[in-house]
Amino acid sequence: MIDLDAARAVLRTNDLGGYTVPTRTLYPFQWNWDSAIIALGWHCFDEQRAWQEARTMFGGQWSNGLLPHILFHHESDSYFPGPDIWGAKSRVPSSSISQPPVWALAIARMLRRSAAAAAARDEVRALLPQLVDYHRWWYRDRDRHDSGLVDCYHPWESGMDNSPAWDEPLARVPGVEWEYQRRDLGHVDQAQRPTWQEYDRYLHLVEVQRKNKFDPSRLAAASPFRVIDIGIVSILSRATSELIALCRQFGLEEEAESFQAEIARTERAVGRCWSGEHRCFLSWDQISNEPLAEITTATLLPLFGRLANDKQAGQMASLIEEWLAANRFPLSSIHPESPRYDPECYWRGPVWLHINWMVADGLRAYGYSQLAERIKEGTRKCIEAAAGSGYFEYYSPETGQGCGGGDFSWPAAVALLWLNE
Ligand code: GLC
Repeated sequence: MIDLDAARAVLRTNDLGGYTVPTRTLYPFQWNWDSAIIALGWHCFDEQRAWQEARTMFGGQWSNGLLPHILFHHESDSYFPGPDIWGAKSRVPSSSISQPPVWALAIARMLRRSAAAAAARDEVRALLPQLVDYHRWWYRDRDRHDSGLVDCYHPWESGMDNSPAWDEPLARVPGVEWEYQRRDLGHVDQAQRPTWQEYDRYLHLVEVQRKNKFDPSRLAAASPFRVIDIGIVSILSRATSELIALCRQFGLEEEAESFQAEIARTERAVGRCWSGEHRCFLSWDQISNEPLAEITTATLLPLFGRLANDKQAGQMASLIEEWLAANRFPLSSIHPESPRYDPECYWRGPVWLHINWMVADGLRAYGYSQLAERIKEGTRKCIEAAAGSGYFEYYSPETGQGCGGGDFSWPAAVALLWLNE
């Protein structure tokens, strides 16, 4: 049995007053896409607290619309790199990149499910202009030539930090030469975390941002890492369709029209990422102009984004069927037959429960309810097999063992919003 009291307790423990940290020591600030999923978790038992999570996040939005991937609400020496390294002069100290844009979807769902309907409408009315600005930022600053496919400038922006899809484009990035002290290794075993070489390169990309004064036109030319992340493209498209519905509901017709045009552009362009050979959509290296041929769970997210046609969805379903047969605890974050598969290393094999939720949602939408149900069952099994509260950052697809940070917020939120249904 899934312990939902324990899930609620995890969110309460990680509540720092207005925002919820992913987990107390390893990630002591507010993370963008974690927070959107966490808000959905709060919403299952405390609607006001859920809206507060959103308000706090959007309180850190930049004037150009960027919603940062981290808001550093207070000082902490348990995380590196902090605001001094990012060097952004924002209202709330923050990073200068974003993360997969789940927020519009979260807010639309919260509105639909609110018991306090009038209060929820007031919240949405207040947040909507900021959501619109956020999505405009993606389409304007990250798709400067209106290609329909937005760019991603940092592996951290993808939310799937050390995904093997980024190995080749990241290998081209030089590392920083200065000395620094990683804080993550004080909390989690090195074998489960990115390597030092990867970290050197992540930091170089942070420096590139700062040296180019976060200017989108300079960064488009200067960033040595520029990819189309099929995960971001999919989540953005799905969230934008939810945003369009919100705009219509609240009388923002022009905004709705212009976002409709953006989605249509993405739908026309996404075929470029389809690979019949791999039976999924691949991410794309914008610098070498090549597909990134690694089958990760991001390559399945076009189902969540409703970007696959029926034939493609059928092929993806057959891929997922084989994938499920090879995972004792599904869904491993990369295909289990990949030579780079590593069951305990972060985004190179472990199971991430919010991704399970997204893939299952996509499968169901295309009519593959049985496969969706198997992923849901697998998600339950992970929580049940893990020690303690059962809510871990990620899980081994082979043993179900919880890895990374413990008492982690987003698996707890996923249990509340999905496994309870
Ligand atoms: C790691 C994950 C990222 C997440 C963050 C906080 O960086 O890769 O997706 O948002 O931790 O949980």
